[in-house]
Amino acid sequence: MSLKEKINPSKLPQHIAIIMDGNGRWAKQKGAERIYGHENGVISVRETVEAAAEIGIKYLTLYAFSTENWNRPQEEVMALMQLLVHTINAETPTLNKNNIRLMAIGNLKSLPGDCYAELQEAIEKTKNNSRTTLVLALSYSSRWEITNAIKQIAEQVENKTLSAAEINENTITSHLCTADIPEPELMIRTSGEHRISNFLLWQLAYAELYFTETLWPDFRKENLYQAIVDYQNRERRFGKTSEQLIS
Ligand code: FPP
Repeated sequence: MSLKEKINPSKLPQHIAIIMDGNGRWAKQKGAERIYGHENGVISVRETVEAAAEIGIKYLTLYAFSTENWNRPQEEVMALMQLLVHTINAETPTLNKNNIRLMAIGNLKSLPGDCYAELQEAIEKTKNNSRTTLVLALSYSSRWEITNAIKQIAEQVENKTLSAAEINENTITSHLCTADIPEPELMIRTSGEHRISNFLLWQLAYAELYFTETLWPDFRKENLYQAIVDYQNRERRFGKTSEQLIS
């Protein structure tokens, strides 16, 4: 039985989030520049999006660039931005052909002008697609997102359109970049690091975490299937006991 056949289609996670890590180490192992790792990471992005759409995952969020990544050497930042612009531009027809909608979360205004424009164009061109939504987290950090949400809520309290007593979990959820997206049930991180690194801190509250030693440029469809099979073998209790789940 192949890994893909082991996946139970009635127990699929609706939303998978991935921290794509290990591009630099992959390149170093090959005696190449870090950007070579990022370039090969694009192949993994393509494979993963294709696999997710094929098996019926409704949302796939990829951590492509964190707020902290701006602190990398200028040369690497510029090369990554160029790669993003180029990839988004080149892949839009494929996204449309496969009925995949593109979205982006993060401090998008901080992206270079051409990158921002390209991204908005691709989002606009794919907005009516409905098979799978690909969410790119770009210049994203969860603390930035939560801080923004709190500022917006505080403004509403200040101008008396909301009272402090009315604030509940839904108030916060609805002010995050992911307001219209269900929470991820599964979060994958590649490259053997066991951290969340400021990614979807609020949204991952009940997610199953899956860590693999595979470096992102080596990640292929089979690796995604493996993560889903592992997820489906876990018992999600949401604070309840096993007995309560059966009854
Ligand atoms: C982490 O590896 C990877 C990134 C910060 C960038 C991810 C970008 C891509 C895969 C390319 C473009 C993406 C899209 C969505 C088109 P790292 O550099 O932190 O690796 P290291 O930990 O081994 O140094």
